[in-house]
Amino acid sequence: MTLARQHQIQVVAHRGASEDAPEHTLAAYKKAVEDGADALECDVRLTADGHLVCVHDRRVNRTSNGRGAVSALELADLAALDFGSWKRNHDEAVEGEGPDWEGSALEGRRTEDTSVLTLERLLELVAESNASGRRVRLAIETKHPTRWAGQVEERLLVLLKRFGLDAPPSDELSPVRVMSFSARSLLRVRAAAPALPTVYLMQFISPRHRDGRLPDGVRIAGPSLRILRSHPGYVAKLKRAGHQVHVWTVNEPGDVELCAELGVDAIITNRPKQVLTQLDRL
Ligand code: G3P
Ligand code: CA
Repeated sequence: MTLARQHQIQVVAHRGASEDAPEHTLAAYKKAVEDGADALECDVRLTADGHLVCVHDRRVNRTSNGRGAVSALELADLAALDFGSWKRNHDEAVEGEGPDWEGSALEGRRTEDTSVLTLERLLELVAESNASGRRVRLAIETKHPTRWAGQVEERLLVLLKRFGLDAPPSDELSPVRVMSFSARSLLRVRAAAPALPTVYLMQFISPRHRDGRLPDGVRIAGPSLRILRSHPGYVAKLKRAGHQVHVWTVNEPGDVELCAELGVDAIITNRPKQVLTQLDRL
């Protein structure tokens, strides 16, 4: 069976189109929307003054010109940092050439587009896109929510409610889903917004989920690519238990093929355009 004949797999831009543009910036998310991604993935953390920002690491050291933990910095501190130049330096060091986004249509928007990105601004981008007829979803990962005893989820739900996104009519029609490695975090989300789809992320298969069943109320499984490679039969187990399967992080053509063959529902990738092309979606 060719990939084109497989059921439609959602292509999710991991941290935006993060191969081409600096991760978790507006530049990366705009590029992902332009590329045709079905959904955008982002990690969220709380700043010292209670704002949700899209940053993967605990500290800003890798992805900005600043230092320190997100939780110790205020939004104004983060707003003074440059979240774009690190990628140019990184790509030059690794590949000996500048990034794709330099000199492209993204240039000139760099100041706004490579500042720290708040979840609120990302929700606006999704709303703007959907209003213009370009349907795109958002998969929000709560990062290390245990350190904040429910505050991350609380703030998240306040924001989603403000955007009218906390009570979708169905999973299929929900523009937003919430993901976490923490079952407790998902439980908090479900308690406050039972209709919101949740994704349980798994790095490894823990004994309690070996049979394919997930924490109560979770409808979507988020296994790592490593799980799929070592236990390809696990996808069928998850599906038999009634779950959708969203796999991360899938960048190589052979792994995209493996995902398609196993019938996964979503591929989370740094290279949305390349994956869409491989799946005959462009
Ligand atoms: O989408 C899930 C995946 O992003 C989890 O790993 O470390 O990239 O957040 P990480
Ligand atoms: Ca993530």
